[in-house]
Amino acid sequence: MDIRIFKNSYELSCAAADLIAEAIKRKNAVLGLATGASPKETYDRLIEKYNKGEISFKNVTTFNLDEYCAIPRTDKHSYFTYMCESLFNHVDIKEENIHVPDGNPENTEEYCASYDEAIKNAGGIDIQLLGIGRNGHIGFNEPSDSFTKGTYKVKLSDSTVEANKIYFSSNDKMPEYAITMGVESILNAKEIILIAQGKAKAEAVNNMINGEISPSCPASILRKHNAVHIFLDGEAASLL
Ligand code: GLP
Repeated sequence: MDIRIFKNSYELSCAAADLIAEAIKRKNAVLGLATGASPKETYDRLIEKYNKGEISFKNVTTFNLDEYCAIPRTDKHSYFTYMCESLFNHVDIKEENIHVPDGNPENTEEYCASYDEAIKNAGGIDIQLLGIGRNGHIGFNEPSDSFTKGTYKVKLSDSTVEANKIYFSSNDKMPEYAITMGVESILNAKEIILIAQGKAKAEAVNNMINGEISPSCPASILRKHNAVHIFLDGEAASLL
């Protein structure tokens, strides 16, 4: 694991954006993207690079990790909306190359299988961006008894609902389910960057790096991958 501790979130986001930009310059990259606070500044840096003419998204394909169920993708809380506002609306990506899971598929099983198939058909993910939940989740793969495989519908844990409900006002109910790529789909990416910042992530980060490799901390499985970058700030690294 390439573990790096950065002085501030600006430097961290520059390093993450540099790795993604390299992948984009190398080939018609397939990016695995994440939502939440952790990757937000990395998207800002990528938009800056695009505006300077250093990179183009014209031949980039993206697959997002997850999406909430029970809200339409046009909802202000959806991860689709987050991605449009944080990245897609600001660069020259083609609409048909954007993939964010449908949170309300007609046939969940068929839909999830087709999402995995689409990733395969695109040639697999070249570089996967990840955050980490306070309970060690990646995507929405919550702590459980076994590591998950492909895309599936998951019931969110109490800890995740607690962490994410701050984004929902009391009138908007936080969804209890989501569609997420499975752990195996994540591990299939050729390269992975996990970003963690802040004290609230310190325990999960320590479990991921120093704890047992176990589905009780889904992120711990990343230690089995041969090209993982863990980008931390001092607080997230404080228990290492
Ligand atoms: C969310 C997302 C994850 C994300 C994690 C951390 O629930 N499903 O993909 O990495 O939790 O979020 P944040 O970066 O906002 O702390």
